Amino acid sequence: MEVVDLVVKGASEIVTAKGTKPLRGKNLRVEVYRNHGIVVRDGRILALMPEKEIKERYSPQMTIDAEGCCVTAGFVDAHTHIVFSGSRHEEFERRVMGATYKEISQQGGGIMSTVRATRQASEEALLEAAWTRLNNAIACGTTTIEIKSGYGLETETELKMLRVIKRLDEEHPVSIVPTFLGAHAIPPEFSDRPDDYVRVVNEEMLPKVAEAKLARFCDVFCEEGYFSVEQTEAILRRASELGLGLQVHAEEFCLLGGAKLAARLGAAAASHLLCVDDDSIKALADSETVAVILPAVSFFLKEDYAPARKMIDAGCAVALATDCNPGSAFTESMQLVLTLACLYLGMSPSEALAAATLNSACAIGMGETVGTLEPGKIADILVWKCADYREIPYHFGVNQIKCVIKAGQLVLER
Ligand code: NIG
Ligand code: FE
Repeated sequence: MEVVDLVVKGASEIVTAKGTKPLRGKNLRVEVYRNHGIVVRDGRILALMPEKEIKERYSPQMTIDAEGCCVTAGFVDAHTHIVFSGSRHEEFERRVMGATYKEISQQGGGIMSTVRATRQASEEALLEAAWTRLNNAIACGTTTIEIKSGYGLETETELKMLRVIKRLDEEHPVSIVPTFLGAHAIPPEFSDRPDDYVRVVNEEMLPKVAEAKLARFCDVFCEEGYFSVEQTEAILRRASELGLGLQVHAEEFCLLGGAKLAARLGAAAASHLLCVDDDSIKALADSETVAVILPAVSFFLKEDYAPARKMIDAGCAVALATDCNPGSAFTESMQLVLTLACLYLGMSPSEALAAATLNSACAIGMGETVGTLEPGKIADILVWKCADYREIPYHFGVNQIKCVIKAGQLVLER
């Protein structure tokens, strides 16, 4: 008998996508295994195999009894802005009473109100606030998360945010992929000379970020009133020279060409995509760029939803994420995102789960490491209070997590 660290047994079903590359079209789905268990050694999955064989071959030091529960891979939240200071509940109230996100931001609110608060906040205060949000995320099943800077818009505060993200990665059980988003908005100091700000991003911020190895990706908000396609391209080319992977916030409020640019530059991800046209869908489908859809933004801003069904059918690699941020989607819950994806993006529960695990891992360069319950991957495992994985999107507004196992360790039990 081989001694192993952990066995998860008794699950009503074990449900996982398969592979290390994003799934497309009819392949976007999960497999369901019954009478199977999971064997973990050294923080990684050693086997997903019939329970009978596990009993014959392995002697576990710890067993988790998942009797009557479905088991999935941990969620990968591929797009968030959870490091920030302050709260925008007053803007929320104004929006509820009829003001739009755009109006609020034109009056100096929106991203800029969070920038003001974040510039003033100490590193400790930022860390503490983000820590609470990370706790919410892991409690809802997120075991890997991407976090962006972008509420500094000046070198010092951007670096401060990235240092906080690094400390979170070192100290919190959730795995973190850091992204530099210095080009999140044009700061008021540069409102009449945006190209000068692009120069600051390219000549001052990016070299410092790359040198200190504080980010794996560089993202740009390519949007009318933010960064043009040309400015976005200049920033992404510079980031690429410095060894960073690329991402774009594209076609959120209007069709500008960010998605095509992302495809052309081989970006890892293009996010939002509410306003994509057929040409952009084709460009994405023909590329390696993952289309990260954020239905919680549409829900929270009461906007239309991205044409995810059409994109999947056209062969795009579609992933899901929360976009957790204080203005356009304040939720850490990938469970809610699954419900919204099924109801408003026309995705089946199987497609949504694959998009929120393997495909989202691929969007942030983690497809080889996490996103499925296959041998060799990090043992990030969720035990659910429900028996059938389709109950995850179906029963909404409550947390259905029973246990979270992160890298083979039981980190949370409810
Ligand atoms: O992803 N689109 C740009 N940025 C965020 C919103 C940030 C904010 O409102 O604070 C987003 O939706
Ligand atoms: Fe975003």
